[in-house]
Parts: sequence; C-alpha cells; structure tokens
Amino acid sequence: NYEQRRWEEEHLHAAMMKFGARDASEKSKQSSKKYEVIMDDEIEFVQALKLPGTGKNVDKDTKHKTEDSSLRLDEMSDIERKRHMIKETKRSLPIYPFKKDLINAIREHQVLIIEGETGSGKTTQIPQYLHEAGFNKDGKKVGCTQPRRVAAMSVAARVAEEMGWKLGNQVGYSIRFEDCTSERTIIKYMTDGMLLREFLGEPDLASYSVLIVDEAHERTLHTDILFGLVKDIARFRPDLKLLISSATLDAQKFSEFFDDAPIFRIPGRRFPVDIYYTKATYIWFMLQAPEADYLDAAVVSVLQIHVTQPPGDILVFLTGQEEIETANEMLLERTRKLGGKIKELIILPIYSTLPSDMQAKIFEPTPPGARKASNTLSRVLQVVLATNIAETSLTIDGIVYVIDPGFSKQKSYNARTGMESLVVTPISKASANQRAGRAGRVSAGKCFRLYTAWAYKNELEDNTVPEIQRTNLGNVVLLLKSLGINDLLNFDFMDPPPHETLVLALEQLYALGALNHMGELTKLGRRMAEFPCEPMMSKMILASEKYKCSQEIITIAAMLSVNNAIFYRPKDKLVHADTARQNFFCPSGDHLTLLNVYNHWAETDFSTQWCYENFVQHRSMKRARDVRDQLEGLLERVEIPLTSNEGDTISIRKAITAGYFYHTARLSKSGQYKTVKHQQTVLIHPNSSLFEQHPRWLVYYELVFTTKEFMRQTIEIENQWLLEVAPHYYRAKELEDGSGKKLPKAVGKSKDDLVRKY
Ligand code: CDP
Ligand code: MG
Repeated sequence: NYEQRRWEEEHLHAAMMKFGARDASEKSKQSSKKYEVIMDDEIEFVQALKLPGTGKNVDKDTKHKTEDSSLRLDEMSDIERKRHMIKETKRSLPIYPFKKDLINAIREHQVLIIEGETGSGKTTQIPQYLHEAGFNKDGKKVGCTQPRRVAAMSVAARVAEEMGWKLGNQVGYSIRFEDCTSERTIIKYMTDGMLLREFLGEPDLASYSVLIVDEAHERTLHTDILFGLVKDIARFRPDLKLLISSATLDAQKFSEFFDDAPIFRIPGRRFPVDIYYTKATYIWFMLQAPEADYLDAAVVSVLQIHVTQPPGDILVFLTGQEEIETANEMLLERTRKLGGKIKELIILPIYSTLPSDMQAKIFEPTPPGARKASNTLSRVLQVVLATNIAETSLTIDGIVYVIDPGFSKQKSYNARTGMESLVVTPISKASANQRAGRAGRVSAGKCFRLYTAWAYKNELEDNTVPEIQRTNLGNVVLLLKSLGINDLLNFDFMDPPPHETLVLALEQLYALGALNHMGELTKLGRRMAEFPCEPMMSKMILASEKYKCSQEIITIAAMLSVNNAIFYRPKDKLVHADTARQNFFCPSGDHLTLLNVYNHWAETDFSTQWCYENFVQHRSMKRARDVRDQLEGLLERVEIPLTSNEGDTISIRKAITAGYFYHTARLSKSGQYKTVKHQQTVLIHPNSSLFEQHPRWLVYYELVFTTKEFMRQTIEIENQWLLEVAPHYYRAKELEDGSGKKLPKAVGKSKDDLVRKY
C-alpha cells in the first residue's frame, strides 16, 4: 500500500544518500600535500575501472587539423575565420565520414534507427545533410524532436549559425508557449510534446518529409507516445522518412518495435575515462541533512580536483535549479575564502528553465574577458553545474572531469491515489555510464562518483524506468482521445503504462468533465485539448468563463507555468527580499499573490526597474507575459470572452477549484494536512503565503517531495465549493468537517458510474 511504498522510498532514499557522504571525521593520509595546505576537508576516492576509449588515432587526426588551420587563420577576416572554424568543426565530427552512407540508407529504408555516442553530430548534422540531399524539396519540412526545451532552442541556434541562416527563418524551433518558426521554416526543431500537438492540426503530418525522433533513449512520455503515432502514419505515408536516433544501446529494442528497421551505427570516438568511487559510507551523517550533504560533497570535490588535478573543465550533475543555485553560492563562498590561493573558476549553471542568453554562455569555448586576463596556456577553468540535461541532450565541449553524485529528480506517481511528485532518485547504471562518458570527449578524462563501488553494483537499477510508467497520463489520454484514438488499451506502446494508471487518467478526465460516462470526449474535453496545458489547468481556464474572471485566471495560469522562478532571493539580501515578497501576499493564498505581482507589474507598464526593486525576476515575468498572451489567443479560439472580476476572489478561487479539486487537503485534528480522498499527510510549503495561517480547506497546485511532501502554491477554499465544481467526484459525506453543518447533497453522477470496461 501507499504507506508501505512511501516507507520503502524513504528507506531507499536514506540508504542511497549514504554514499554521498563525505569523510568528515577522518583525514586521509595519502592526500596530496598541496591540497591539505589549502583545504580542511576532503573526500577520499578510489579508482575502480576504466571506461575504455573508442575509435583509433582520433588524437592525431584532430591535432593535425587544428595546427594546420591555425596557420592560415591569421590571414582571414573575422567572418571568414568563423566560417572556416565552423567548417572544420563540422568535418571533425564522428558522423561526417558517414554522410553519404547515411543518406543512402535513408533513401533505401523508410524507417531507420540511428545510434551514436553523444556529441557525434546526430542532432545538429543529420537535418543539414538531409537538406543538402534535397529532402526539403517542395518546401517540405525536416522535423526533429527533442525531449527538452533547452536542447531544442540551442540546437536550432547552432544549426542556424552553421548554415548562415537567421534563426526563425529556414531553421527554427517550437517549444510550448514559444514558436520561433515562420512560413519559410524547413528545418524545425521542437519538443516531443509540440510534435504531439501538431497531430491535432495535421493528423498525417503532411507538411513533413522527414521526422527525426531524437534522443529516443530518454524515453520521455511524449517520445513514447510519438513512437506509436509515427509508426502508424508511416504505414499510410510511404513518402515519409522516419529516423529514430538514440545515444545508447537501446537500438535493438527500437528496431524491434519498428518492425525490425535497420540500425545505422555511427562509431563513437571517446577517450578513456578513469572512474573513481568514494571509499567510505557514513550513513548517520547522511540521515541528518541528506540534501545539503551530497551538495557539499560535490563542492568539495570540485575544489579538490581544481587543486590536485591537471587543468580541465569540470561538469557536475545536480538535480535541479535550486540545488544548482545553492552549489553555485557554496562554490563562490569557498573560493572567495581561499582568495588568491587557487586559480579563478568560472561557474556556469545550466538547467531547463535557464534563459536562453545564459545558456549560450555554455557553448562559448572560453569566456572572452577571461582569455585576456590569464595567459592562454593556463586558461580560466569552467565548472558547469548542470541537471540531467548534460547527460545526453547537450554536449559541452572541453569537459575533462565529471562529478556524479548519483541522483536525478524524477517524477514519481502513485496510480492509486493519483499523487504525482518530484522526487530526488538514484540514477540507473546506464545513466551513470552516460555521465562518465561526458569526460572523455576531448581527451582522456576522469569521473568521480560520489558513491561507493558497492552501491553502484548493488543499488543502482540497470536502466531508468520509462516515464510512461511513472507519470500521470491525463494529458496524453486527452490528446489521444482528441485524435480519435479511443481504444487506449490496445494502443501500440513500446512499454505499456500500468493498467491502473490508464484507468485513473480516464477517471480523472471524467471527473473533470472532459469525458462522458462512455469514455467519449465531451465538448468541454475538446475545448480543453486546445490548451497546451495539463488537464487540470485547462479546466481551470475554461471554468473562468462561468465565473467571469478569465483575465485573472489566465494571468494565474501563466504565472504558475513559470512557477518557482518569480521571486529572487539573493543570499546577502534575504531580509529585504522576503519582505518584498511578503508585501504581495494575499490572505486567500498564493495564486492570488501571483496575480497581485503580475498586476502590479502590468501597472508599471512592465517595468524592469520595478522588478529589480521588488526582488522579482524580470525574465520570468517576461515569460509569464508571453504565456499569458498566448493563452489569450487560445481563449479567443474557444470563444471565451475576456472578463475581469478582480475584486471577487471567491469567483477566482472557485474557478481554480474547478480545475484542481483533485488537489484538496484539509486540516486534521492533529494540526496536519491530509489529502481529502486518500488521507496522505502533506505540508504547506514554507514559502507560501498560507504558511502561517491554517485554513481548514485548501487546494494546492503541485506536490514536491524533499524531506517531506510539500504542497506548492496553495489557496484557501470552502468545502461546499467542491460539491459545486466537482459533483461527480465528491460526496457530501466526505466533506463534512465536524462543524455539525450538513452539506447539501450533490447532484450528478458519481465516478462509480464511469463504465467499467476501461
Ligand atoms: O546529437 P549528438 O549528441 O550526436 O551531437 P550534436 O548535439 O549534434 O553535437 C555535435 C557538436 O555540436 C558538438 O561538438 C557540440 O559541442 C556542438 N554543439 C554546439 O556547439 N552548440 C550547440 N548548441 C549544440 C551542439
Ligand atoms: Mg543529440
């Protein structure tokens, strides 16, 4: 049952945390002298094995080329030099010698699986090769899907640069709420979720001549659904070419799924990587403050490498934005303390919500200012702090050292309760090896694993569980239903989702009113599918029609989609920042606080200065504004008028409840919150404007599991609203709160009436 599972999860969590522990009590005697002088703590690593290199004479090849070109570079103009460099880089990629063979294979077969190590040039080069080979004739597009928005944007930008095109013209990208393409676009990068949505407008994807499902090994939910859909359209569109591209050894599985499609292997080029594990495990240490601890271990390792190892850029894998920011600050503080004792470090954060101009920095070989400051030989070292995104989606050149704490943030889903939560989870062996591989791209490298060899062998799963098996399927089910795919149990899944997850998705959509009791799409469901949002959010937006507050609701929806990145909390101005944030607080809850922030900003005519003064992140606000504009357009499409009802917070909160009634918690006698349907204990997030208050009933936006299950973004509601907005789901009896007040009986069918055939 759930409790048991939670216990197991916590237990596992704690057990896994132990190998992130640092050896705080014991000093290693073998440690480097130089290091000891500077630092007072360290981690002891033991070398275990070598990840062998691949390919022959790579070293010689590339060296020869660069020497050769540097001679002539001096005589060139800037533009010539840049073109020349691009050409050289393109030629040096492992995929380059296979250009002809690859194009021939594509001409010969309708479906082709392409396997090649990360960084071999699959994502950036294949669409260009296809363009050269004439696959764009008659203006047909080459489409390439990416699981991550950052990758879609940055790769499109890179290709635009290589082709000498303007981004958004012939080459562009499309991600949720941001379309950077035009009528002329013939090479289109997009997130897998966006291609799914394109099926709604163009079920046969007739405007494409080639589709590349890239990073297939990531097995995101959307990629998995795409597999089934593209396989199907390939059958009745013999002119469509389908490429499935993957970084790891899953190629065989992909081939089998696509009726034994041939596999095209691009031999990788990787230098050997030495793998080190931590020596000790200190379980008690970890149990006290697990998060802080592996971060600390990672930070110590960075400095340790910096001081004791030959120069080389360092890549650290962390689990999310918050962790990256904390690590960034820890590193800055430590290096500041060390003053001139160590060489300068440049710290580059990279995560999926990072604004694009900051992402661009990652790909600059050396920061321009830094090159002048130090001499060219001992250039400033970079430390890249990245999420899983750097595992395969993005290649960062120049990395020699990888630090792998062994965790990533993953969605976890309980199909019985419908609770979805982000949990820091141990990675798989496959992931660990991908991460290690990042160290061997430019030269022999080293990977430091912040866990023991024993833990690697015995505690890590072989492969990551595909997302489809650990997530809420509501969104995808609604989309498939809109595409007329009714028999979901027999959909062509590579790995089918658990039966109960599918059933729960159907039940949730029924309770939201998107499906009727026959499991068919309703008019409301059809309108919901127009929005590129989770069903609950779409429902909230549509409910704003009834409560005459569509203006406020789309603002709230937009602000929720840039969730967590609104307020800025610099460590040296915490008090000021918190006061500024609290000034926006609304007693009814966080959604209204967000609305308040947006409206104030809008009143200043979207001023940057205002954001700065109020510790509000201008970039996030700009994004919220873009999202809001798009939602406004979509409202027009479903013919909902723009209405404002700002003073009536009850109406606004009712509209929110109409979407999020699944996420309801009530204050129990013990002073804790419990979810209404399943009695799970949940806490108000300390950042919430409701943290100090204890409303009896509340609705939350999402759950985040850190040390406990926290509700992020909450509003206070009244219990009888639930009967008004979700009569299919709640019964009056469940909602009695001991005040003796009887609730009116709900009208409408209960979810038990939903047909059992699903
Ligand atoms: O897809 P795959 O991992 O096979 O390689 P890729 O992403 O096409 O990367 C090929 C090369 O392009 C690498 O050397 C990257 O460093 C470079 N690249 C870049 O400079 N800027 C980007 N935004 C993406 C890739
Ligand atoms: Mg790629």
